[in-house]
Amino acid sequence: MIYLKTPEEIQLMREANNLVSRTLGEVAKWVAPGVTTHKLDAIAREFILDNGGRPACLGYGGFPGTLCIEVNEVVVHGFPSNYTLREGDIIGTDCVVEYKGFNGDTCYTFPVGEVDEKVLNLCRTTKESLYKGIEACVEGKRIGDIANAIQTYCESRGYTIVREMCGHGIGKKMHEDPEVPNYGRRGIGPVIKNGMCLAIEPMINLGSRNVKIASDGWTCSTKDGKPSAHYEHTVAVINGKAEILTTFDYIQEVLGDRFI
Ligand code: MF3
Ligand code: CO
Ligand code: CO
Repeated sequence: MIYLKTPEEIQLMREANNLVSRTLGEVAKWVAPGVTTHKLDAIAREFILDNGGRPACLGYGGFPGTLCIEVNEVVVHGFPSNYTLREGDIIGTDCVVEYKGFNGDTCYTFPVGEVDEKVLNLCRTTKESLYKGIEACVEGKRIGDIANAIQTYCESRGYTIVREMCGHGIGKKMHEDPEVPNYGRRGIGPVIKNGMCLAIEPMINLGSRNVKIASDGWTCSTKDGKPSAHYEHTVAVINGKAEILTTFDYIQEVLGDRFI
């Protein structure tokens, strides 16, 4: 069941998504060699609580963090831990905030210090593909058009698409219909309508597309151990096109010329 949101509900979605975006802006201040992923998680949790939000991932199906932590080969759903970030790592931080009954969902993959140019290019392409997907999110087109835009952009540059995980509808619940895959054919899937709110989130690999789930039941990593990148925005379809409700501007302000 796809819930179309009213203009009033979309206003609340804007507020929740602004808070989750500012949260990753706080996280950005701490991403550096020597910092544990627990520390990043604590920063995010405290910021959300101080601002009247609820860290929606914490306790969701038993998930133990405010942030999903995605270091190097981790694709999604890694736990915060005492792992200490190292120069050359990339780290995705994926966060969901509930605020006034609505959810905001965003993810950013940060380089830690100097990162191999090949890996930086994976990150750049993944982020660009997110915007290609968003451009294809137009009333009257279909979810498959978003999926195909992402797939085409990434595969034509030699990267592979994780197929087991998808974007999704979002609203009062973190995960609503429809699923928004990052691969597929144009013209298939549900029709995009005004009032739809979607989390679009390409997960793109440098090596093969295959993934495995660790014995913790959550941590999803590439099978070949090569890096994976992940960026996510929440959008609302308004007046025929996608308005991006999250923003990476707070991250950019912090990172300055280190922003990729
Ligand atoms: N933020 C993830 C997504 O983009 C979901 C997190 S799962 C949780 O859909 F268990 F951590 F909440
Ligand atoms: Co997310
Ligand atoms: Co999501």
